Amino acid sequence: MENSNNQPKKVVYSGIQPTGIITIGNYIGAIDNWLKLQNDYNSLFGIADLHALTVRQNPAEFRARAMSFFAQYLAVGIDPQKAIIYFQSHVKEHTELSWILNCYTYVGEMTRMTQFKDKSQKNADNINMGLLDYPVLMAADILLYQTDLVPVGVDQKQHLEIARDIANRFNNAYSPTFVVPEPYIAKQGAKVFSLQDPTAKMSKSDPDPNASVAIIEDPDSIMRKFKRAVTDCETVVEIRDDKPGIVNLLTIMSAMTGESMESLAAEYHDTGYARFKQAVGESVVEKLRPIREEYNRLMQDKAYLMSVAKEGAEKASYLARKTVAKVKRKIGLVELK
Ligand code: TRP
Repeated sequence: MENSNNQPKKVVYSGIQPTGIITIGNYIGAIDNWLKLQNDYNSLFGIADLHALTVRQNPAEFRARAMSFFAQYLAVGIDPQKAIIYFQSHVKEHTELSWILNCYTYVGEMTRMTQFKDKSQKNADNINMGLLDYPVLMAADILLYQTDLVPVGVDQKQHLEIARDIANRFNNAYSPTFVVPEPYIAKQGAKVFSLQDPTAKMSKSDPDPNASVAIIEDPDSIMRKFKRAVTDCETVVEIRDDKPGIVNLLTIMSAMTGESMESLAAEYHDTGYARFKQAVGESVVEKLRPIREEYNRLMQDKAYLMSVAKEGAEKASYLARKTVAKVKRKIGLVELK
């Protein structure tokens, strides 16, 4: 596919693990941007279900959550006509390439990874090989599609670095085989903080349910969480460094309404926190309403969801097979003809 300058479109790959919930923080910080990406790039969105296996999952919940994430991607506006959206586990080349790339990755590189060290501490009773190997599977995700750009947050930067190292190592050992991916620095969507601790990022896996809001959450629950949002002991709505709770609420409301934080701060300066929080909650409920409705509709139509998943997997496999064939040839595996 080509764009108007007759340059081939660049490839963008993004993955999300189907764990926790998709929050308004993800929505404001990242998803909005993906919707633009799908117009300008050949984009792939993978549900990284194999990555999620590195932590023990309850099978029924895991399956339901993976389907739910897939439906949420569609509900927010990822368009399967424009982007390839699929489940990682449906494209067996991910695991196939990841084995090969394992043989080009050093154990020392993996044990040094910050996330591995963190997760090993948190899951001390289950430090499995997958946890160690996680970055190699991620490198396979990216390199399989000759990806040019990967939108990553700070927590995944180190993993992208390793993907680049592996690609360069392979290319140098044989001949250019993989595109060496670059981080895609998104026009930074606003950063959203926890409603219970406005100095910590809103997390998709926060154990405190009041800390984060899901994009498909029901209106009553959304309103309740905003009413309980932690602020400060003053009464004025102002943008100040010592008012992180209020600034967070303004950030959220600004993203939801398109109005600037400054004008919202002026409007709610003296209304008192109760009314302000109510207004923020309502702005979130209204903005998410069409997403929630579309999500509910999609979840009633499993046949449609499966057909999109199947088509996504077929399109992804077609591309992935080409890369794997090339890799196998280069390293000297016998081809079956
Ligand atoms: N590891 C990423 C995360 O937890 C998810 C992911 C898997 C990913 N494969 C990817 C992200 C490939 C970017 C590219 O956020």
